Amino acid sequence: MEQKKPLVHSGEEVAGGKAERFSRSGFILAAIGSSVGLGNMWKFPYITGLYGGAAFFLLFVICLLVIGIPVLMAEMTIGRAGRGSPAVSLVRLSGKKIWGGFGLLSILGAFFIMSFYAVVAGWTLHYAVLTFGGGLGKGTDFEGAFFDFIGGFQPLVWQFIVMTVTGWIVIRGASGIEKFNKVLIPALVVILLFLMVRVLMLDGAGAGVEFFLKPDFSKLTNESVLVALGHAFFSLSLGMGTMLTYGAYVDRQQSLGAASLAVGGGDLLYALLAGLIIFPTTFAFGIEPGQGPGLAFIALPAAFSAMPAGWLFGGLFFILLAIAALTSCVSLLEVPVAYSMDRWNWGRPKATIVTTVLCFLVGIPSAISVGGAVGGLHWGLRSFFDWTDFIASNIILPLGGLIVTIFVGYVWREAGKEAGLTAGWFTIWLFILRYIAPVLIVLVFLHTSGILKF
Ligand code: TRP
Repeated sequence: MEQKKPLVHSGEEVAGGKAERFSRSGFILAAIGSSVGLGNMWKFPYITGLYGGAAFFLLFVICLLVIGIPVLMAEMTIGRAGRGSPAVSLVRLSGKKIWGGFGLLSILGAFFIMSFYAVVAGWTLHYAVLTFGGGLGKGTDFEGAFFDFIGGFQPLVWQFIVMTVTGWIVIRGASGIEKFNKVLIPALVVILLFLMVRVLMLDGAGAGVEFFLKPDFSKLTNESVLVALGHAFFSLSLGMGTMLTYGAYVDRQQSLGAASLAVGGGDLLYALLAGLIIFPTTFAFGIEPGQGPGLAFIALPAAFSAMPAGWLFGGLFFILLAIAALTSCVSLLEVPVAYSMDRWNWGRPKATIVTTVLCFLVGIPSAISVGGAVGGLHWGLRSFFDWTDFIASNIILPLGGLIVTIFVGYVWREAGKEAGLTAGWFTIWLFILRYIAPVLIVLVFLHTSGILKF
């Protein structure tokens, strides 16, 4: 590969300093940290409940393996070859300015996802503290407590805390991000296994396991397929330049094929274990798993509170959610931070502080609109929070994914060299990126944007 102009934060060599790099395991853990998040523990269980249980889970697995992992690898490959934030890498590798505009779209997407994601991450922290403190004991009106909380101004304080912690990690750069994930991801696994063993011992847990793992294909609809693919993208953090930005810090010797398999596999395993916590719990306590977004904050705390030492299990559950959310927040914030370092030649501290403050401000309406603290923040059917989620997750995300597949499939001719796959795997990879992924992504887009109804 020819020499590229060095970048302040990610170039091969930087005058007066060293380029930022992840270690091999650090990269994989950071990427798993990004992918494992609220998507797995908050969104995945209730959409699985809504769209067909085990059969939906199977669809999700297929989408993740067949489409998700190849697109994930495409993002990592672009990032490592381009050694910059999405806009810079795309322009550099194609030699055409127009691709900068597409890169910019993904950066905005990450910024907006972050703005509301931090709000929900804040809820999980609040709930962890509350549950450990015994504030959510048996007999609480869980629904009332949740709506009172999100309808007030307290979520702002928690959103502020999440943004501050995230900024505090991101300001340390790739090595700080790596260290943070190296501590928290193992902690996450330990808590996850502990909770899983506990809830599988509940009376009636078996019905939940069956619902989650024994497919009934009559429950599937066309819509299930698109929701599964959309969620595979969200869960792997695709389409927003996250994996592309992390890819810029990867060592040239690391195998990207192995890394994408490890990250995809890690995310899948996490979804499986999360499902094995949530469904046995809901079934053991006679709760309907398809009840929507309130599942994690209303139904599950109610179930935990009914167990002996419920404060401990409930508290650990929310700590789990908070850790998963924070490691994803870090990856989301890194995208606009890396962009401002590239674009305006800012140092990392300045880029981080400016981006964090802006993202906090943009997230304020989300924090206070979702529960109706500020009634005027509803436009049409959606609150500000829902609009941000809708535009970022359902419109920008599939568009970003499409751009990545088209770029590697049709525009950038050197992808094969950078990816380092064997000839056979390369052919399969390219085939998926050229002919399968773009078609499915367009279908998801038409569906989630509401243009096409099934
Ligand atoms: N993957 C994370 C989750 O499952 C969220 C996330 C982080 C994300 N970075 C992203 C989603 C980029 C879309 C794009 O919760």
